[in-house]
Amino acid sequence: MTEFSRTIIKWYQSNKRDLPWRKTSDPYQIWISEVILQQTQVIQGLNYYYRFLNFFPDVATLANANQQQVLKAWQGLGYYSRARNLHQAAQQVMLQFDGKIPDSKKDLLKLKGIGPYTAAAIASMAFNLPHAAIDGNAYRLLSRYFNIHTPIDTTEGKKQFETLGNQLITQNHPGDFNQAIMDLGATICLPTSPKCSDCPLYLNCQAAHNGQTINLPVKSKKTKRTRRFFNYLIILTGQEVYLTLRQSGDIWQDMYQFPLIEDTRLLSIAQLKKRLNWSYDNQRLIKKDQDIRHQLTHQELHIRFFYIITEHKSSIPSVINEQKIQFYNHDEVSHLPVPKIISDKLNHIFPKLIT
Ligand code: ADE
Ligand code: SF4
Repeated sequence: MTEFSRTIIKWYQSNKRDLPWRKTSDPYQIWISEVILQQTQVIQGLNYYYRFLNFFPDVATLANANQQQVLKAWQGLGYYSRARNLHQAAQQVMLQFDGKIPDSKKDLLKLKGIGPYTAAAIASMAFNLPHAAIDGNAYRLLSRYFNIHTPIDTTEGKKQFETLGNQLITQNHPGDFNQAIMDLGATICLPTSPKCSDCPLYLNCQAAHNGQTINLPVKSKKTKRTRRFFNYLIILTGQEVYLTLRQSGDIWQDMYQFPLIEDTRLLSIAQLKKRLNWSYDNQRLIKKDQDIRHQLTHQELHIRFFYIITEHKSSIPSVINEQKIQFYNHDEVSHLPVPKIISDKLNHIFPKLIT
C-alpha cells in the first residue's frame, strides 16, 4: 500500500462522518445516495435520502412507480432529469438485469444516468471492487498531493486521474478509500483555502510545499469567461439620476442601469467624448471612481463609471448611444429593479445628493 493510501485510510477510520449509506452494502441505497449527493451537500441530502427511500424502498418499487410520484419525491432537489434517469434505470434493472442491480462497473455503466463516477462509487461501496470514484474532491486532492497540472476537464486529464486513482486504491475496503478522499476533500482540502495544517497528507503533499494549492486543479481554458467592458455614464442634475432600461437577450434583462457605452475596452475621458454624440461643453465630465471587476458565470465584466455633473437639464439628450434615457428621483429609483453594481452606486450617490 502506498503512503498516500495508508494515510487517508487511517485518517478515515477515526474521522469518518457517520452517514446512513455507510452502514449498508445494499447497492440500491448506495446508488440513491450517490445520485442525490452529486448535486447536494451531505447535510441537505440526508433528508431527501430518507424521504426517497421511504417512498421507494427498493428497485422494484421505484421501477413500478409512475414518473409523477418519482418527481414529487425529488421535489426541491432540482436537476429533475436525474430523477427521470433513476426511474428509467430502475426499469432497466428489472427488464435487463432480472431485478438485480449489476455487480460490475461495466454493467453499471449501461444504466441510464450512471457515469464513471457513480459506477465506481457503487462498485466499490456495494461490491468491494477496486474502482476509484473520481469526483471534484478527488480531482482537487490528487492534483494537489501529486502536483498534477493536466486539466481535469479533458479526456487526457480524466484518464490520468482515473489511472492514478486505480493504482492507489486499496484492495481491502475500496469503498472506504473512495469515501476517505471525499471526506478529506469536503472538510480539509477545500477549494479556496485548504486547511493544510490540519491535513494528514501535509508531510508529502507537493502543492502545499510549492505554494501551488491555489492553482490546482487546473481546468482547460475552454471554460474561460467572455470579457466585456462597460463604460457607464452617471448624469447628475442635483436631485435626480438618469437611467435606461436593459433590453432582452442579454444579462440583466428588464433591469435598469445608467446609460452605457459598451466597448472593447475601458475608455479614457477623451475616448468617451469621441463616442458621445453630444455637446457637453458647459458641463463637467469626470472619471472619478475605482474601476470594478464583476464575475458572472460566463462573463467577466470590467466596469468604469464616468460622471457628468450639470444643472442644465435641458441640455441632456433623451437618447444616448441608442438608449432612451429618463430621470428618476430617489424615491422612484428605490422601486426600480437594478443589478447589484448599479444599486451599490446609487446608494453611494443619493445620500450625497440629498444632503
Ligand atoms: N459525496 C458523494 N458521495 C458521498 C459519500 N458516499 N459520502 C459522503 N459524501 C459523498
Ligand atoms: Fe490539500 Fe493541503 Fe492536504 Fe495538500 S496538505 S492535500 S493541499 S489540505
